[in-house]
Amino acid sequence: MELTQAIRMRRMVRSFAADRLDPDLVGRLVGDALRAPSAGNTRGVAWLVLEGPDTAEYWASTTTPEWRRTSRRFAGLARAPVVALSLCSPSAYVERYGEADKLGAGLGPLDLGEGGENAWPVPYWFGDAAFSTMLLLLGAEDAGLGAVFLGSFRGETGLLSSLGVPGGWRLFGAVVMGRPDGRDATSPSLARRPAPGAGALHRSRW
Ligand SMILES: Cc1cc2nc3c(=O)[nH]c(=O)nc-3n(C[C@H](O)[C@H](O)[C@H](O)COP(=O)(O)O)c2cc1C
Repeated sequence: MELTQAIRMRRMVRSFAADRLDPDLVGRLVGDALRAPSAGNTRGVAWLVLEGPDTAEYWASTTTPEWRRTSRRFAGLARAPVVALSLCSPSAYVERYGEADKLGAGLGPLDLGEGGENAWPVPYWFGDAAFSTMLLLLGAEDAGLGAVFLGSFRGETGLLSSLGVPGGWRLFGAVVMGRPDGRDATSPSLARRPAPGAGALHRSRW
């Protein structure tokens, strides 16, 4: 598939067939996603892939029983054979920006006099996780799969500790992936217009 076609065809898919995916294919897609650009070449991003029954832990940690009972989407999402967790290590970026070639940015560890995580106007760890996530979404499209990115707003700490992720790592979100079953309920988000001035190409001046 041409890259332009993958970019234009990709849409979030939220209803999946239960068929398992070839682990080698999943490994290749995640390996390609890890080729994303990385600030200062820190490469402080990792993927933790849950397959088959292991995906249940993700849903149990990040959703409530009430939502699972009432959501029109849960059954279709939970059938997905793969949930890939996009993880990043803020401290890896802070350490990297404490190295000689990056020290001038003032984003290194606190013990160098300034900086630390809170000094970062733009947290590159989430940026790098997002670049990698986009590659995985495009790779899934290219492989004829469906995928949706789900943001992280509930249960991060419990999920990561139950999966043995070392302290300090953050969850950017999850790519839920599988074969689309064609039973998607259209997202109400799609009816939205872009925010004022957004979704536009501005040339020379805003
Ligand atoms: C940072 C981010 C967080 C998102 N979180 C969710 C989410 O939690 N649940 C969901 O169903 N879709 C989520 N989405 C998907 C968006 O709703 C979707 O990309 C948007 O409606 C445009 O649709 P499209 O990607 O199919 O073109 C998220 C997308 C992004 C970029």
